[in-house]
Amino acid sequence: MAKRVGVLTGGGDTSALNATLKGVALAAENASWEVVGIEEGWAGLLDGRMAVRLPAAAIDADRGGTILRSSRTNLRAIEGGVAQAAEHLDALELDALIAVGGDDTLSVGVELDRARPDAPINFVTKTIDNDVGTNSPEGGPYDFGAMRNYLCPGFPTAAAWLRRAAQDLRTTAYSHERIVVLEAMGRTAGWLALSTALGHADFVVIPEVPLQLDALVELVAERFARQRNVVMTIAEGAELPNGTRISDLVSYAVADGRSGADEDAFGHRRLGGACLWVVERLKEEIGERRGLVRPANISGLIPSYLQRCGSPTPIDRDIAVRLGRAAMQATLDGETSRVASPVLRDGRIDVASLEVGDVLPLDSSGTIIPRTVDARLYDPHTFAPTADGLGYFEPIIGPFTQPYRDATLEAYSP
Ligand code: F6P
Repeated sequence: MAKRVGVLTGGGDTSALNATLKGVALAAENASWEVVGIEEGWAGLLDGRMAVRLPAAAIDADRGGTILRSSRTNLRAIEGGVAQAAEHLDALELDALIAVGGDDTLSVGVELDRARPDAPINFVTKTIDNDVGTNSPEGGPYDFGAMRNYLCPGFPTAAAWLRRAAQDLRTTAYSHERIVVLEAMGRTAGWLALSTALGHADFVVIPEVPLQLDALVELVAERFARQRNVVMTIAEGAELPNGTRISDLVSYAVADGRSGADEDAFGHRRLGGACLWVVERLKEEIGERRGLVRPANISGLIPSYLQRCGSPTPIDRDIAVRLGRAAMQATLDGETSRVASPVLRDGRIDVASLEVGDVLPLDSSGTIIPRTVDARLYDPHTFAPTADGLGYFEPIIGPFTQPYRDATLEAYSP
């Protein structure tokens, strides 16, 4: 009888999830294994009845989101949840499982793997936040080849979208002499926000460095006086020096209409609205007080799910397919608790099979440490990436394009 591998997707969707599923299915079929899709992530395994056949032919790698749907169900927070999911692995007659998700999905998977050691569980990461993995070890120059899980599938597409958004906003900012503050997702990590620098955002505020508002106001005022427009970005998770998360000062329901429980099953608060707070401060300071720009010409923009939805970029799709294949190969090789991870070798993205503990470092209390933007990649004085910070993005979304230039028009006198 053919062996069977279950596969599921958990956490927030991304554009590259179906591509990973495609890779798993192609490698499984090649080895004459059958693929069973568990719908709605861990919620589906807890239920035990939400399973579908998943032949490679049924999966379109260019389609965004996840055809298996997703959930943010935390089996560890449900009494007996992990044991019940383990029983359902048996009941579904699955020989192995591949979980595609972010840090939360992986941490549940590790526990399930311990509860059910005879059915290997392997992983592929995904998250537009790019916060699963590690930076180059501290000390010395930043070494991209030493990063674990160089990127999370889904991030390249979201980063490319944000780069384009920043670049495109310039034409309106220029035409109307406006200051536009774009807000990037990413929770406590500034990777997505930083990607807008490749689209010539003038300034980028990331959560890793508390916002020095006075310094930012001075730079924005100076740039506007010179350039007559500013496009800047703030990460949704940005903080003030006193530790206040800026989005806590704004109601996200007012900000973009997303509403719901304050926290998800993993204890994450929904963020949103930081750009609106900054807009108010800029209006007060350089609009009303200094009269440098009409307050009505300063606005915020929260693209919300537009940065997470839709088809993957070719780079993102192709990496995700390779990672899906690699996770299945790890399964065929009898490995367990491994993460199929992108690594950078000689400037090209390759695939490695890493221990889950290498990709998901824990602090002394056992809490996962998200990968945030390393201090070597961001200059807090200019609110911009360093040369290494820009270089990080090259294999992911292509090179930094030429700096933005205004049109040069000659004065006319009859
Ligand atoms: O983790 C991915 C992410 O898109 C974050 O960047 C964002 O904070 C969060 O999910 C939004 O979650 P929701 O899908 O609940 O709006």
